Parts: sequence; structure tokens; C-alpha cells
Amino acid sequence: MTTVGPLRLGVNIDHVATVRNARGGAFPDPVRAALLAAKAGADGITAHLREDRRHITDHDIARLSAELSIPLNFEMAPTPEMLAIALRHRPHAACIVPEKREERTTEGGIDAAGQHDRLAPMVAELLAAGVRVSLFIEPDARQIAAAVGLGAPVVELHTGRYAELDEAARAIELRRLADAAALAAKNGIEVHAGHGLTFDNVAPVAAIPQVRELNIGHFLIGEAIFTGLEDSVRRMKALMEQAR
Ligand code: PXP
Repeated sequence: MTTVGPLRLGVNIDHVATVRNARGGAFPDPVRAALLAAKAGADGITAHLREDRRHITDHDIARLSAELSIPLNFEMAPTPEMLAIALRHRPHAACIVPEKREERTTEGGIDAAGQHDRLAPMVAELLAAGVRVSLFIEPDARQIAAAVGLGAPVVELHTGRYAELDEAARAIELRRLADAAALAAKNGIEVHAGHGLTFDNVAPVAAIPQVRELNIGHFLIGEAIFTGLEDSVRRMKALMEQAR
């Protein structure tokens, strides 16, 4: 039953590049994965160009920018290098994430409150270039107030902690996500969410009415090994739609 607005799926293709880079060379091609995901119903493609280029490369971003017919969400650390790349390609959206070299994946949200002065000129430049800026934050009121202060049109709520907890402990974290989503939307900010989402845990997050987009990668690419990427994307979209 549809009671709330539609929910978009952004497919993160980083880990197709991780597998490619394990051997060097050109296969598997993350751009091919992006085009296939789009065919299967993905509403956008997300790619994180990390400082150490461990998965997505500059050339991948150039190709995605040229070849995609659905929006590209460029995940970037708040560095001058990444800002220059974003301004060169002007993707539909840029999601600013914290980045630590030693982490295996993005471990927490960005401290938008503590880093206001560093982020403010970056957010302003991206917005002036027509890029929709999103801040990847923990679901808490202080970070949402900071996003409002920075003029960010979008926040992406970090669901990593929710995804790690067992069913019993999840309820509290889900409440935090729902409260943060409501607060952000009340302040005119579009709400996205992502990290660690799977077929088993996606529904409660997808059911939060203010959430407009989920960005999902690792699980979908892993599942694609068994059933193919089109199937994993289709099944995820179906679960998201059922939850609305
Ligand atoms: N959103 C952001 C901002 C991320 O950094 C990531 C991981 O790269 C994701 C979503 C997707 O997370 P996962 O790969 O766990 O689905």
C-alpha cells in the first residue's frame, strides 16, 4: 500500500571496482555495472572516489559522467582535490563524507557541526556550480542543525550502526533515524539514508516516510555474485516499494 512518496534507490558500484583492482586490468567494469543497475531500475549511481583510489578511479568518474543517463552521486571527502574534481564533472549530486585512510569503509558521519568553517566554502562552491550537496551525518539533532546552518539541501543519514545491531537493539537506533529524518524534513532538508543495508534490514528504514533515497552498495554487489546484479537491484527495489 502506498501511503508516502516514492523512494529512490542509488546503487553504489564501488565494490565492482574493488574486485577489478584486486587483479589490475579492466574487469569487472564498474561502468558496465552502473548501466546494468540502471536497466534494472536503479534511480541513481553512487561512486566514492577515495583519496587513495583503492576502488573507483578518476577515469571511472569521467566515464560515469559521460555515459550515465541517470543521476550520478559523487561521494567525496571534503578536500581541495575532491572539490576540484567535483567542479570539473559537475555530477548531479555530491555527498560529502569523512574519510580516513586506514578505515575499510566510511565509519561514521561527517562532523558537520565541528567542521562548519571548513565545509561552508565547499558547500557554497558546489551549490553555485549546480551540484546538489548532501552531507553524510549521524542521525542526531546537532548535525542536522549544522546542515541547516551550512545550507545543505540534502542529508544522508548513516545507517551503519542500525545495520550492525541485532533485532532487539535496533529499535532504539531506528527511532533515532526516524526522529532525525522528521527533524531534517521539518527544516526543509531532503533526507537520504545508507550504509550496511541488506534485504533483511532495509524495510524499516525504507518505511520512514521522510526518507527519499537509499544508497546501497556492498550487499547488492555481493548478492550479484549469486543471482546477478539486475536481480539483486530489482529485489531491493521491490522490498523498498513494499515498505512504503
Ligand atoms: N552512503 C555512503 C555515504 C557511503 O559511504 C556508503 C559506502 O560507501 C554507502 C552509502 C553504501 O554503503 P554499503 O556499501 O554498506 O551499502
